[in-house]
Amino acid sequence: MNTKDRELRNKAAAAIEEKEERVNQDHYRLSYHHMPPVGLLNDPNGLVQWDGVFHLFYQWMPFHTGHGEKFWGHYTSKDFVNWKQQPLALAPSDSFDKDGCYSGSAVVHEDKLYLFYTGNVVNEQGKRESYQCMAVSEDGIHFDKKGPVIHLPEGYTANFRDPKVWKKEGIWYMVIGAQNKESQGKAVLFRSEDLTNWVLVGNITGSYQHKLGDFGYMWECPDFFELDGQEVLMVSPQGLQAAGMEYNNRYQSGYFTGTLDYERGDFKHADFKELDHGFEFYAPQTTIDEKGRRILFGWMGVPDQYEEAHPTIDHHWIHCLTIPRELQWDGSQVVQKPLEELKEMRESVLLHSDITIENDQKGVRGVGGNAVEIQLEFEHIEEQFALELFHYAAFSYQKIEGILTLSRPHLEDKSKTEFRRVKLNGELNQLWLFIDHSTLEIFVNGGEEVFTSRIFPQKGNDAVLFTSLGASTFSIEQWKLNGYTYS
Ligand code: FRU
Repeated sequence: MNTKDRELRNKAAAAIEEKEERVNQDHYRLSYHHMPPVGLLNDPNGLVQWDGVFHLFYQWMPFHTGHGEKFWGHYTSKDFVNWKQQPLALAPSDSFDKDGCYSGSAVVHEDKLYLFYTGNVVNEQGKRESYQCMAVSEDGIHFDKKGPVIHLPEGYTANFRDPKVWKKEGIWYMVIGAQNKESQGKAVLFRSEDLTNWVLVGNITGSYQHKLGDFGYMWECPDFFELDGQEVLMVSPQGLQAAGMEYNNRYQSGYFTGTLDYERGDFKHADFKELDHGFEFYAPQTTIDEKGRRILFGWMGVPDQYEEAHPTIDHHWIHCLTIPRELQWDGSQVVQKPLEELKEMRESVLLHSDITIENDQKGVRGVGGNAVEIQLEFEHIEEQFALELFHYAAFSYQKIEGILTLSRPHLEDKSKTEFRRVKLNGELNQLWLFIDHSTLEIFVNGGEEVFTSRIFPQKGNDAVLFTSLGASTFSIEQWKLNGYTYS
């Protein structure tokens, strides 16, 4: 650890101490989502399970609520509910990462934990440089930086980052999010036999490749994995134009399914599908756990999307991660399910079956709260069904068109309402909501569609109202949730 490293760590610790009280006074603080102790959190990084311990790192700016020279924060857990706050994993203290230890991933090799991340540098001419760096740990807590293992290849701009590493048939592979000199977003594949020497294979896909025309000027945070035998490239492209119900956020996150030719570095794939339809979801990352499950965490935020309008900034913090989700392949698409382990948080249960509401709006006894999980099973919806949450957000289903809509006051201009929509394949039969003070995650029909959003209702407002046009019959199960513990 160099002197600069020590200084930065002390400064980060001082920032926490100085602002802790104000941060913790915020009624928008969360009980079961990872938040920054102070400052800004963005992408989940380095997800990996090692000897039963799950490691979750995250992009962290401790000194203010904007972006900048990122650190890697670090949490670990054996059960996804009880977490340990670990010392900072990486600080931007070296010449090759001085303007940010940007996003990346982790793998276990020969009983050591390897981190791969992007060293972001702004040089003396004010120009960006980027280095793909490696750091190694024997105890999973202290990391020894080994410096760059990949320098920027010809043909790309310095927007070249977010290495995701995996192993296939004895060979290591890495996919990087990139922009080429023609300002086209690309996913770039490298190969290595020893994690240190990397060979460029090529652009597996990107703007103007395969069936894609212009598909964004930059691709961030790629991830590549197999899900029940199906190959999936998950990526966050920047520069897609909104098209009807699609691509309504500032930047998108979604996936392509297809077949990767590892030799030629060519990924033949189907169309892009967005992973989420809420207002805040970006830069998700996955890992496979020791049970063989594909686990995802996402960032509940979107870069450059009115981040300054988040009210938590008054309390010196901003953004959080999603709950962990398990990905499954249902034969035609990726579905997301809340991770089984979260059931451990359930405290008390409330069950109402056979509720019918007809041309009316009403509350249901005991339903609502700040940290709850609510499951609605529908027996019948005649025309339209809606939930009003905390006099703030609304979620509705129009049966004839099959359209789901989430709305909330526009974060920047509260006189306006903003909307996100998706058309369902079949009928609505289940809604599964996770609510945590200022977050909302809605899983539709077993996770076929998901809406992930921040919500900022007035303090003390935790009522849920149900509205039906025509008659709707459903059952409700609700659990109050204990929340994560931190030690
Ligand atoms: C995505 C991203 C990554 C980058 C990181 C920096 O949100 O822009 O591409 O590595 O955030 O914090």
